[in-house]
Order: sequence, then C-alpha cells, then structure tokens
Amino acid sequence: MAESNRPKTSANVVWHHATVTRARREELNGHRGAIIWFTGLSGSGKSTLAHAVEEVLHGQGCRTFVLDGDNVRHGLCGDLGFSSQDRVENIRRVGEVAKLFMEAGVIVLTAFISPYRADRERVRGMVEHGDFIEIYCDSPIEVCESRDVKGLYKKARAGQIGDFTGISSPYEEPESPEFRVETGATPLDECVKSVIDVLMERRVAKK
Ligand code: ADX
Repeated sequence: MAESNRPKTSANVVWHHATVTRARREELNGHRGAIIWFTGLSGSGKSTLAHAVEEVLHGQGCRTFVLDGDNVRHGLCGDLGFSSQDRVENIRRVGEVAKLFMEAGVIVLTAFISPYRADRERVRGMVEHGDFIEIYCDSPIEVCESRDVKGLYKKARAGQIGDFTGISSPYEEPESPEFRVETGATPLDECVKSVIDVLMERRVAKK
C-alpha cells in the first residue's frame, strides 16, 4: 500500500527545534538553499539539465545535490511503481527529502516526471515563497520518443510497459512555472545558461 494511504501513526511526537538553523547553515555556505524542481516527460532532458546546472553551481562553490527519479526509485522509492497512487507517493517522499536538503542549506535539484500538478503544488506549498523554483522541461513527445534513449517509448507503444507517461498515463503541464525551457529545441549549453540566469535573478546562483 502506498504510504499516503496508511493511517498516520506518528501521533504523540513533538517537533525538536535545532539550534543550528537553516539561516546559520546558509550563512556558513555563503548561499541560500532552494529546491529547483525540473518537471517534464521521460526523455525531455530533466536529468541532463539538472546535472549540467549542478556543475555550474558546484563550480561557483555552492553546495548542491541532484535527486533523480531513476536513482531514487532504486532505493527510497524502490517499492513504488507507476500507478497514479504510487506516483503521488513518489513525489510526496521526494518533496519531503528535498525540503530536508534545503533546510540543510543545500541547493537541491530534482529531476522527476512529477506528472501531476497537484503534487508539484503540494511541494511548493510545503516551503516558503521563493524556495521552490519550478522549471518545465518542455519537449514535444515526438522528440522524446524519437530520442528514446532508454528504449521505453518503444516498449510502451508495443504494450510491454503500462501506465507510460504521455502514452497511457497523463502529464499535466505546469500552468505558471518559474521558467519554461524548450529542451527539445535548444542546445544544452543554452538551456543551462538560461536556467542559471533565472537562478541568479532569484539569488540562488552567484553572479
Ligand atoms: S514520476 O512520474 O513518479 O515522477 P519518475 O521521474 O520517478 O516518475 O520516474 C520516471 C522514470 O522511470 C522515467 O524516466 C523512465 O526511465 C522510468 N519509467 C519506467 N516505467 C515508466 C512509466 N510507466 N512511465 C514513466 N516512466 C517510467
């Protein structure tokens, strides 16, 4: 059963406040923490872009971490599949982990399809205004499918994989992301530059 459907059993637990606060960690790091949330179809370039942006931030001396669907689903979310219920739980867990990273003063970059608008908005609502920066990796399904790096679109079309995003499972486009990048039509270095510009405007990346 997905975690979100289990009764909440953590009653009688009181929050323990840290003395080393987020603000102090950020001061030590010399930059603020944030969640940079990349969303888009499988093969839209989320992971590639997230890692390339991380390289630039790391080069600036920022503390960073990428949470990536293909990796997280081996461990933390290894018990989840691709039903709508499991995807909701996947994003709930990832949102919680991303928030912890951010509180640790880290710039966390997440690369999950995260197909449901409500799930992304729930994560946005878990943090302060400005902490959640949604980047829509907008690539037409035809482009993702023609690349088919992992061969999954072919399998989905052949009916060997069910609930496949864009084919037999929905993708809800962001209505007002902080930034939309046409990953299907723009060279990677330009995509990286435009995302870094957004992060500079929002005082995440350094000038
Ligand atoms: S999400 O929908 O719950 O956000 P997530 O980003 O973790 O998905 O995982 C997506 C990755 O799992 C894809 O990039 C792809 O490699 C793989 N995958 C395997 N089966 C599916 C499927 N049915 N739909 C989408 N992606 C799948």
